Amino acid sequence: MEITLKNLTKVFQSKKEEETVAVDNLDIKIPSGQLTGLLGPSGCGKSTTLYMISGLLRPTSGEIYFGEENVTPVPPEERGIGLVFQNYALYPHMTVRQNILFPLENVKMDREEALEKAQEIADLVGIGHLMNRKPKQLSGGQQQRVAIARALVKSPRVLLLDEPLSNLDARLRLQTREEIKRIQRETGITTIFVTHDQEEAMSISDEIVVMREGVTQQIGAPQVVYNKPNNLFVAKFLGTPPINIFDGRIENGRLMIGEANIMKFEGKDREVTIGIRPEGFKMVERSSFQADVEFVETIGRDTTLIIPHPNDESKTFRAIVDADYGVEPGDTVKFNVKPHKMHIFDKETGEVL
Ligand SMILES: Nc1ncnc2c1ncn2[C@@H]1O[C@H](COP(=O)(O)OP(=O)(O)OP(=O)(O)O)[C@@H](O)[C@H]1O
Ligand SMILES: [Mg+2]
Repeated sequence: MEITLKNLTKVFQSKKEEETVAVDNLDIKIPSGQLTGLLGPSGCGKSTTLYMISGLLRPTSGEIYFGEENVTPVPPEERGIGLVFQNYALYPHMTVRQNILFPLENVKMDREEALEKAQEIADLVGIGHLMNRKPKQLSGGQQQRVAIARALVKSPRVLLLDEPLSNLDARLRLQTREEIKRIQRETGITTIFVTHDQEEAMSISDEIVVMREGVTQQIGAPQVVYNKPNNLFVAKFLGTPPINIFDGRIENGRLMIGEANIMKFEGKDREVTIGIRPEGFKMVERSSFQADVEFVETIGRDTTLIIPHPNDESKTFRAIVDADYGVEPGDTVKFNVKPHKMHIFDKETGEVL
């Protein structure tokens, strides 16, 4: 079920006449049968967008389509959605089975069939053996699966997940996100997954939508957005450790950072902002881009050099290099920059050049 948002806008009006534009003219297509990650910093309008898609919130303006159908006036219970929130809100006095069956209460389905359906969904999410337990007898990850089963039992057209993993510890979070990916693949259900965790979104999404202050910044496959960010915000938001940012300039057909000549670069002389991914440095014999290493961090197979920032000695930047170089603190290193790991932005607007 393809979801189309047309100029979707939500303005909250608080008592003191103060307006918050939570979602600003969102104009996107969410592809059918895929997992789309809705990503952005806290307060950028992710939940508001999700709740408008679910029907729990009314847009101030704009429209929502499920396939060809304009669902904007359709109440939530008739949209065919399954919704999972951050706090799963299971009914504590009911068993797992009863929790999963609950959404079927108002559906005309005979008891046998409903029980069969509940079992089938429970098996799918891996809690089929826990049907007689109460929520408090389950781990966080198991509770979250019950919530997902409950959202899936009515065979919704669309599955909406709002930060479904944020109550879980790191290990369980990793495991449950793989699980969600598997469930999504097996059911083929169009799924929107909201998170502010870029790594989480990058790892499980077929497509990501990056938002900032209610406005879409970029849509695409995670690796495409990572490799070709539209602007400085997107470049900085994706990637751990984050991209290194430098003040630079184009001068006489060369790209410069301070006195270092980074590479040839056609274009009129101007100041620019340069982003270089930590994995974008290559150690070489000769280069004007050189510095003395301050710290060396080795974690697993990565060696990270921490180097004084050429624009500001009180700051540092990070370069991930091959451990084989055996670099030590105090060593002078010289770099070439891998062109596909570098992005150049307009200094004023932050748009990619
Ligand atoms: N009911 C409301 N009344 C007024 N303002 C609201 C209301 N709900 C949300 N907002 C504001 O709208 C903006 C977007 O909120 P939203 O909850 O959609 O953000 P979010 O991206 O989900 O953030 P988070 O990652 O923290 O969950 C915020 O500035 C928020 O304060
Ligand atoms: Mg939210």
